[in-house]
Amino acid sequence: MQINVKQGQLQQESTELLVVNLFEGVTEPGGALKAVDNALSGLVTQLIAAGDVTGKLGSTHLLYTNGALPARRVLITGLGKEAEFSVSVARKAAAAAARRVRELGVSAYSTVVHGVGRGGLSVINAAEALAEGSLLGGYKFASYKRDGDDKSSPEISELTVLEADAAKLDDVRAGVTVGQAVGENANWARDQVNEPANYLTPRELARRVREQAERVGLQVQVLDEAEMAELGAGSFLGIARGSDEEGQFIVLEHYPKDVDPASLPTIVFVGKAITFDTGGISLKPGENMWKMKDDMGGGAATAGALLAAARLNLPVHAVGLIPATENMPGGDAIKPSDVVTAINGKTMEIISTDAEGRQVMADALCYAQRYNPDAVLDIATLTGAIGIALGPDLAGLFCDDDDLRGRLLAASEFMGEPMWPMPVWKPYRRLIDTDVADMKNTGGRYGGAITAAIFLREFAGEQPWAHLDIASTAYQEANDAFSVRGGTGFGMRTLFELLRGYAAQ
Ligand code: BES
Ligand code: MN
Ligand code: ZN
Repeated sequence: MQINVKQGQLQQESTELLVVNLFEGVTEPGGALKAVDNALSGLVTQLIAAGDVTGKLGSTHLLYTNGALPARRVLITGLGKEAEFSVSVARKAAAAAARRVRELGVSAYSTVVHGVGRGGLSVINAAEALAEGSLLGGYKFASYKRDGDDKSSPEISELTVLEADAAKLDDVRAGVTVGQAVGENANWARDQVNEPANYLTPRELARRVREQAERVGLQVQVLDEAEMAELGAGSFLGIARGSDEEGQFIVLEHYPKDVDPASLPTIVFVGKAITFDTGGISLKPGENMWKMKDDMGGGAATAGALLAAARLNLPVHAVGLIPATENMPGGDAIKPSDVVTAINGKTMEIISTDAEGRQVMADALCYAQRYNPDAVLDIATLTGAIGIALGPDLAGLFCDDDDLRGRLLAASEFMGEPMWPMPVWKPYRRLIDTDVADMKNTGGRYGGAITAAIFLREFAGEQPWAHLDIASTAYQEANDAFSVRGGTGFGMRTLFELLRGYAAQ
C-alpha cells in the first residue's frame, strides 16, 4: 500500500472514497464530517438522529455523494465514546475503515487524520495510528486460492492522507513513516504465521528474514545444526533432530551505522519459531494440529520488530535470536526420558517432547548472554495453559523487574496488544525437579504457563528478563471489524515500541 500525504480540503478531494469519522453520542457533526453534512444538505445529521449512524467503534457507514462532492463515496468510521478515545482506538477506527474499503473492492481511497487533539493525541501519533491501522485493517493473506475472494477484494494499492493545515504536514509525514514501517512489518509477520508449514520451513523462514533484512540494512547470520552443535546447543538440537528439515538459528542485529553499539542500550529478543509443532513423539491429537503452523509467531514478531527498528534506524542496539525448527516424530527424534544439555551446561529430562518450545528457547536464551544485554525479552507460543488462564485476547507477561515490566505494559497499551502480568512464582521450581537431571521439561497441567516461565528463567541470565506467552493471541479465530481471521503478528508492535522507548533515552 502506497501512502501519500497531501495538503488539501476534503471538499476538493476527488476520490473513489473518502473516510471521515464520528464520535459516539455526537448529534451535530463537526470538522470534516460537518463539511460532508453541509455538502449533502444535512443528510448526515438526519442519519445520526435516526440512529443509523452511531459512531460506535468498529462501525462504518457508507454514503454516496451523488455529485455533491468530488468524492464518489464517503465512509464514516466510528471513533467510539470520546472519553474512551486513545491512540489504540484511533488505530482501530482506521483499521475498521480499511477493512471495509477492501471488502468494497476499492483499491485507492483518501482519509482525514482521525482524532487529533482528542484524548491527548498528537498529530504525529494520530498519523502513525492512521497509517498503521489502515495497513493492519486492509491486510489479507494472499492465499493459494486460484480465484474467488482474492479477486473480489484486491489489495488496497493507495491511501491518500489529507491534511488541510500546512503547519501539521511535517508531523503527519513523520507519523505516517513510522506507522507504515510498523504496519508493513506486522503484516509481514502475519504472512509468515499464515504460511502453510510445507512452504515455510526453517530454511525458508531464514531465507525470507534475510531477504527482508538486506533491504533495510539489518545484520543477519544464520547458524545451521553443525554450528549449533559446536556451541553445545543440545537442547535446540534435541528438537531439530526429529525432522528431516535442517534447523536454523537466525541471529539479527541492529545499531545505527557509525555508532558504537556499546554506547547504546542492548536489548535482546528471543522468538520461538517452531515452523510446525506435531508434538514430536509425544504426538498431539489430530483435530486442531493444523493450527500449529502458528508456532513460529514469536520468531515472526521478533524479526518484524528488528526489521522496523532497522528501517527507522532507531538509536538502540537490538538483537533478535530466532531458533527455528520443526518438531517432528522422526526416527531419530528425541524421546520422553531422554536427557539433553543446553549451552550453559544445564541438563533437562524430557518428559514431553511437545514441550519443545522451552527446549529451543533455552539455548537461545543462553546465546543471548554473549551480548551482555541490558534486558532480554523472549516471546513464544509456549503453552495452551496461558489460554486457559487468560483467554483469547491477553498474552501472559512474566517479568520480575519493575522497570522492564512497566515499559512493556506501557508499550503494549500504546500498541493495543493487551497483556496481563503473571507470576514468576519461584516456589514452583519444585514442580520441575527430577531425580535424573537439573530439571524436567514439564511441570504438569496446573500452573502450566508458570512452570514454563520458571523453566526459561533457568537460562535467562541475571539481567532484567521478561517472557511473553502468546500461545492464545498469535492466531485470531474469527473475523472482526478490525482484522481478519488468522495470524495476528501479536507482539511485533509492542517489541518495536519497547525498542523505541529505549531509543528515546
Ligand atoms: N506450541 C504449543 C503451545 C500452543 C498451544 C500454542 C495452543 C498455540 C496454541 C507448545 O509447544 C506445547 O505443545 N505446549 C504444551 C506443553 C506441555 C506439554 C507441558 C501444552 O501447552 O500442552
Ligand atoms: Mn509443543
Ligand atoms: Zn510448540
